[in-house]
Amino acid sequence: MDEKKETKEVEETHEGGKFLANRRQFLGAFAGIVGAAGALQVGVPLLASFKPVQRGKPEPVTLNLGDIPVGGFAQAVYAGSTFLAFNRKTGIECISLKCTHLGCFVKWEADKERFQCPCHDGWFDKNGVNKGGPPPAPLELLPFKVAGDKLIVGGE
Ligand code: FES
Repeated sequence: MDEKKETKEVEETHEGGKFLANRRQFLGAFAGIVGAAGALQVGVPLLASFKPVQRGKPEPVTLNLGDIPVGGFAQAVYAGSTFLAFNRKTGIECISLKCTHLGCFVKWEADKERFQCPCHDGWFDKNGVNKGGPPPAPLELLPFKVAGDKLIVGGE
C-alpha cells in the first residue's frame, strides 16, 4: 500500500517537466557521483601506469654550445633527470641534479659554488663530489661529446 503511494508521489513530481527528487533519488544520485569520482581517482593513475616504460638507451640531448657562455651553464633533461651543463675554463661538465642519497633534486648555489640537497642537507662541491651529509657518492657525471657547435649529452 505504501509503495503505491510513493510511486504515485514520484510520478506526480515529474509532471510539467519539473523534477523534484525525493530523498531516495537524491541519495542514489549522490552515491553515483561519489562512486564515479572514486573510480576516476583510481582509474586514471591505474591507466597511466600501463604506459610503456622506456627500454634501452635514452635518447641523447643536443644543446647549442653558443647558448652556454664560458663560466655559465645550461639546464636540460636527460633520461628523465635534470642536469646542468657547465662550460668552465677547465672544460665542459654535465652533472646530474639527482641526489645520490635518496634521489632528491639538488640545487646549484652559484654564490657558494656547490650543490645543496634540500632533503637531508647533503652537499656536493662544484664538480659534484659529495662533501657533506648523507649522500654516499658523487653526483652522476653524464657522458657527452662535442660535434661542431653542438653539445650532445648521453646516448653512449
Ligand atoms: S636525498 Fe639528498 S641528502 Fe638525502
